[in-house]
Amino acid sequence: MLLHIEKVLDADQLGQCRTRLAAADWADGRVTAGYQSARAKHNGQLLESDPIAQELGAIIVDALSRNTTFFAGALPRRIYPPLFNRYAGGQAFGWHVDNAVRYDRRVEPAMPIRTDLSATLFLAAPDEYDGGELVIEDTYGTHEVKLPAGDLVLYPGSSLHEVRPVTRGARVASFMWIQSLVRSQAHRRLLFDLDVAIQKLTMQLPDARELVQLTGVYHNLLREWSDA
Ligand code: NI
Repeated sequence: MLLHIEKVLDADQLGQCRTRLAAADWADGRVTAGYQSARAKHNGQLLESDPIAQELGAIIVDALSRNTTFFAGALPRRIYPPLFNRYAGGQAFGWHVDNAVRYDRRVEPAMPIRTDLSATLFLAAPDEYDGGELVIEDTYGTHEVKLPAGDLVLYPGSSLHEVRPVTRGARVASFMWIQSLVRSQAHRRLLFDLDVAIQKLTMQLPDARELVQLTGVYHNLLREWSDA
């Protein structure tokens, strides 16, 4: 499931990110790539130790923690600290699958985070650059994603994906990985659909007793399927 989440950042948060990143020190993106993906990856990236990355990453994680659509789609257990990248001058990231496990080294010993989901938060507006589409392959085919600044796409970490060459301007984005409470993609999808249906019914028939029953089914499935 690909989930487009609109306006994860409000105008103030987006402005703050853009201003801070305009003055940032971009390193070679291959520092966080695995052996295979390093050969396909050409971009600039903030070092994880960069204070700007840490400051803006905290803003993003805080915004995500308040976003009910993100919660419903990801059922997050752990979020890898957001990273930031920049593509310009023909830079691209060829087809690859992200590493299955990342280690959060802010804690000792380092904490493994299984990358059930990947997310990209667009920080540049689509008209600021040409190319730079995030192309994601799933069982339903190939999807091109290029979103307004402040919007996020959530997709399975197991997907093959690429970033097309940026031929004009600069594509600045944040990206992160999420370990979900629910490992199975199919189970997450069922829970998301059930959650959305319950939310809609709550608006239409707030007093229906069946809502209590359906909500119970949701939580009992989550209890069955989560590994928290
Ligand atoms: Ni990737």
